[in-house]
Amino acid sequence: MLRKYLFLFIGMAVMAAGCSKAQKEPHARYDIVPLPVKITEKEGNFALENGTEICIPAQNEALKKIAEMFIQQIRTASGLELKIKEITGSETPQKGIVFTVSKIDEIGAEGYKLWVEKGKIDIQANQPNGFFYAIQTLFQMLPPEVYSKEKVKNNPDWSIACAEITDFPRFQYRGMHLDVARHLFPVEFIKKYIDLLAMQKMNRFHWHLTDDQGWRIQIDKYPKLNEIGSWRNGTLIGHYNDTFPQQFDNVRYGGFYTKAEAKEIVAYAASKYIEVIPEIEMPGHAVAAIAAYPELCCRKDTVFEVGKTFGVYDDVFCTTDTVFTFLEDVLTEVMEIFPSQYIHIGGDECPKNNWRKCKHCQSMIKTHKLKDEHELQSYFIHRIEAFVNSKGKKIIGWDEILEGGLAPNATVMSWRGDEEGVKAAMQDHDVIMTPTSFCYLNYYQADPQTEPLAIGGFVPTQKVYSYNPMPENLPADKQKYIIGVQANLWTEYIKDSKLVEYMLYPRASAIAEIAWTPNERKNWDSFTKRMLTQFKRYDYLGVTYAKHFFDVKASSEYNTQKADVEIKFETLFPDTKIYYTTDGTEPTVNSKLYTGPFGIKEKTMVKAATFKDGKKVGNVYKKEFYVFKSTGMKYTLVNEPKTYLGTTKYSLTDGIMANLKSPDTWIGFSGKDLDIIIDLTKEQSIKRIAANFESAVDSWIFQPTEIEVFISPDGKTFTSVSKQVLGADKNTVPKIIPFEVLLNNASTRFIKVMAKNQGICPKGHPGEGNPAWLFVDEIVVE
Ligand code: ACM
Ligand code: ZN
Repeated sequence: MLRKYLFLFIGMAVMAAGCSKAQKEPHARYDIVPLPVKITEKEGNFALENGTEICIPAQNEALKKIAEMFIQQIRTASGLELKIKEITGSETPQKGIVFTVSKIDEIGAEGYKLWVEKGKIDIQANQPNGFFYAIQTLFQMLPPEVYSKEKVKNNPDWSIACAEITDFPRFQYRGMHLDVARHLFPVEFIKKYIDLLAMQKMNRFHWHLTDDQGWRIQIDKYPKLNEIGSWRNGTLIGHYNDTFPQQFDNVRYGGFYTKAEAKEIVAYAASKYIEVIPEIEMPGHAVAAIAAYPELCCRKDTVFEVGKTFGVYDDVFCTTDTVFTFLEDVLTEVMEIFPSQYIHIGGDECPKNNWRKCKHCQSMIKTHKLKDEHELQSYFIHRIEAFVNSKGKKIIGWDEILEGGLAPNATVMSWRGDEEGVKAAMQDHDVIMTPTSFCYLNYYQADPQTEPLAIGGFVPTQKVYSYNPMPENLPADKQKYIIGVQANLWTEYIKDSKLVEYMLYPRASAIAEIAWTPNERKNWDSFTKRMLTQFKRYDYLGVTYAKHFFDVKASSEYNTQKADVEIKFETLFPDTKIYYTTDGTEPTVNSKLYTGPFGIKEKTMVKAATFKDGKKVGNVYKKEFYVFKSTGMKYTLVNEPKTYLGTTKYSLTDGIMANLKSPDTWIGFSGKDLDIIIDLTKEQSIKRIAANFESAVDSWIFQPTEIEVFISPDGKTFTSVSKQVLGADKNTVPKIIPFEVLLNNASTRFIKVMAKNQGICPKGHPGEGNPAWLFVDEIVVE
């Protein structure tokens, strides 16, 4: 596939060079991200020259600004001076770049039509947004050097490939979120972050401004929010689950954005057709505000400090009039800064423990005839929504706002999966899809063993790209309620701007494409090919993106005939070679050259890397593969796992051991037991059966309470060979719970392992009453 594209690419580029006057190095002509709805490729180029005119309708300030932005960037990168020509009356320009405001139903509010011919470029759109996006497309039809912040020395062919393009977004909401509460980032960086969104035709910036660890927006009426709430006396060292008790750096950390700075960002974003949506979290994730004003909490006489650790805090806003007055005052000031149609009010992860004990909260439940604390949360959100609606604006809340009943006009951000989004759409509420398993860009994008510390999870670029925000099971008449998709970047473990970009890119480009491009046009091979050019654009923009895209990807499969594990490598990077080692040493050009799948018959450390022109590109792949009697053997499970499925088809016997840093390497059962029968395909003598379980109580993963192992020569009559009772999980830090049975050359073909899930999270646990997870991998037979 890649080869074919490469051929096409070179073919087209040569053609381009042939047609252009300048005979310069060819550049990628149509590597546009996100991919437009329709491109008809044409022969020839439109060459930018000194004096090229951009013709815009007279007295159209918005289009003038867009034209000026284009001129400015072309000047910076190329030194070419284009000029604006204002067109009045019936004049029809015959050359240059011509903007015409039209009425074209097909392309909607944000779409555009673009005709690039040798002497003229015509752009038509209904609104300025469309012209802005047409310009983004033109930038991407120019050499990547066009994104340079200074005049480039190589002076590439400043021409635009001839084409006819019709383009408009799949979703009207195309968002990206940034948490500045856990760590904050300079105003200049936020602007760069916005530039990158605009370049990829994203139109919403969801700015998470308040949380337990810091209040980040100036509020005049409550100065202690900034004097106290914006500062913490230290930050957790390492990961939440690393040590018990947790360790802190004791370094005072904080700050906030002044109103002037926030307004500057709002205006900057607006100039790039991006709406900034502020989030003020309530009723949970409110410790920073409570530390400043303890009277806002149920435990009013307690002294609080701004959160230094992460996770979910029990201290949340109480439900007194003081709290509602405070929040209305805060929101009033926030609405003065942010002209957005939406205000995000949070609503996620609000523990109800304090409300259960609080006299006032209990009296509210009685007075308002509410069923329970969930309905009290719903009351809270309804009341805030009524206030926000009264100011002519709408609320967005995380999907927990469904619990206890949705507020009448609320838009739901579905983050725990698609199901909550479907529920909200079925109730005729707008929904923005942002499920953790596809859209959380704070999750790992590559092997956690070799990555900077992250919160967990595993969402590589290809997984992001595979996401379709329109749930398959949503009836056609409800699909209009899925208004878009958003990626989130929570910054517990992301301390600086460089790491923000590393986590976002290239994954945010995949988000941009799933948000913009019609689902039927999405194509991973085409995306990877276009990304080769997009990476060059990132380079000119100074983006510190992750390079895993070009790492060696490995897959393994047991070969029954050869009785070995076959390892296969791939890379997306064209014209490269893969070198690998099986002795633990680092791969170099002197290591073994990969020419096709190879087998291993025993425990082996495999390392591989991609090399281009003798130099390593990307990161070294490394993994330990094991070969046991169970390796590659098929099995049946009584309870099929649904979310944590492991990384291969028979993950429990694939010869790859799960580790604590990689949740996706485990098989997970929610509230259910492990009940597995492995078929070794023939009766044989065995010495040992073993399995690893995970205990990570903070993540709701508990060790099994009981494990029993059976053997059977015929798959019908099973004999118990071991039963161990482990009981309740008392572990305080995550660990692997190894289990083994030693057998004296027992003869068997079938092996059955049963491990009992403890069922539900116990009393006092944050997940009390919810299903407990049982995590297992690998099952080993020797
Ligand atoms: C969330 O990730 N708690 C919305
Ligand atoms: Zn209370």
